[in-house]
Amino acid sequence: MTHAAGTELRDISKIETHLHLEGSLTEQRLVALASKHQSSLLEKGPDAAAQLYNFETFTGFLNAYKVCCEHLKTPEDYRQLTAELLQRLADQHCVYAEILFTPSICPRFGLPAREVIEAVLETGREGQPRGIQVRWIFDTVRQWGADPCWQTLEWALQYRDHGVVGLCIGGDEASQPARVFRDVFESAEKAGLHRSAHAGEICDARSVWHAIEELRAERIGHGVHALEDPLLVDYLIRHSLPLEISITSNFRTGAVDKDCVHPILEINRRGIPFTLNSDDPGLFRTSLQREWELAAGILGWFPEQFVELVRRTLRYTFLTEDEREQIRAILGDG
Ligand code: HPA
Ligand code: ZN
Repeated sequence: MTHAAGTELRDISKIETHLHLEGSLTEQRLVALASKHQSSLLEKGPDAAAQLYNFETFTGFLNAYKVCCEHLKTPEDYRQLTAELLQRLADQHCVYAEILFTPSICPRFGLPAREVIEAVLETGREGQPRGIQVRWIFDTVRQWGADPCWQTLEWALQYRDHGVVGLCIGGDEASQPARVFRDVFESAEKAGLHRSAHAGEICDARSVWHAIEELRAERIGHGVHALEDPLLVDYLIRHSLPLEISITSNFRTGAVDKDCVHPILEINRRGIPFTLNSDDPGLFRTSLQREWELAAGILGWFPEQFVELVRRTLRYTFLTEDEREQIRAILGDG
């Protein structure tokens, strides 16, 4: 055997730092929601959901993401989505996750944002007895501009005592430059919130620099194009600034060519800090376990190297040192 097999990886306690609540919606649950809400998806035939989930481009992905969000029509839908995600994380021995949630979607689709936020955060707390602790990063959609981002910051600050630790930006990376969000992220930093940004996913290394310089991002979502700039590689290493890597996501959105070896090989070889994640497990039909198996195949890692990865990932989380210590104890590293 050349690398860790799935069964060997299954029992190792895991941590995830880049996981979207909305993108955790499975095809099966989308069909159930379409039926519950009698949506137009039903009229498109029995394969409509499967076809939607079979995208091969970033635009196709964004479209599927939007359709998923359109089907989350009540706080109860969000509650169920959150509960099911937590159960799947617990089943994979994920002990801690920082979950991205995009509350500005709610007013767009006519939902009461505060009710939804409270339903999500409350359900998040119910994970603890099942062995999965969560914190929340409020994500905002780049193509929607600065106003929803300011609103997202306001909600993040309002709910920070309920597990919200950071602000992030996602969506169409090519749509708006990072500087549009500079003042919001500066306010977030001044208020003590952590910051991450999707960058260098479909755009080049300059976009990663902008996320660092304009948004003062502490973690980069994807960032696979960072490899193109040796100065940036050096910066990421010197500042222990991790890339949040999701292998399936990159192949499914076309961020990485399907015929290429995933850049995680080179990222690891060069010593760039990274975490391993499922990103949108429902939409990409993946899981954290599956991403670990893929990484094991590419990197040739043994189980001990995944245990080390989890230890390093804990250092990159947006927890306080005391909280990290508690997770370390759960990992058995106390
Ligand atoms: N990239 C951009 N936006 C997103 C992503 C992503 O990987 N996942 C959810 N929204
Ligand atoms: Zn993402």
